Amino acid sequence: MLLAIASDHGGYELKETIKEHLRERGVKFVDLGTNNTDSVDYPVYGKACAETVAAGKAERGIVCCGTGIGISIAANKVKGIRCGLCTSVEMATLTRQHNNANMLALGGRTTDPKLALEIVDAFLDTEFEGGRHKRRTDMLDEM
Ligand code: RB5
Repeated sequence: MLLAIASDHGGYELKETIKEHLRERGVKFVDLGTNNTDSVDYPVYGKACAETVAAGKAERGIVCCGTGIGISIAANKVKGIRCGLCTSVEMATLTRQHNNANMLALGGRTTDPKLALEIVDAFLDTEFEGGRHKRRTDMLDEM
């Protein structure tokens, strides 16, 4: 699986932690920035990551900002993106099983890094259940 990953300054440290975890897992990724903690605008990075996933250049995406909120809003404005902001392993599991989320958003200032890595693992390792959930994700994709 090839992932796209991006953050603003508020999510930069968590993005770097996630990258190290992905390397340890042997998951390939493309890092779309930001590259330091200088203040930047989260819509730019959410959009870049979402467009990469929507174009099929990466299978899934992970985005981080301070809370995960702003960057998930940005990602979800791109057609074909279903980005779940998760603060627990259960949410990450369910957003894959039920929403077929193709992007995960995390808060670098609000989620403990160790928990964030467990959330990433659940996001990567959980399959979509299909069935009645497919009808609903199709409705999302038509909006
Ligand atoms: C940046 O200070 C902060 O607003 C941003 O990282 C994010 O939390 C927005 O939702």
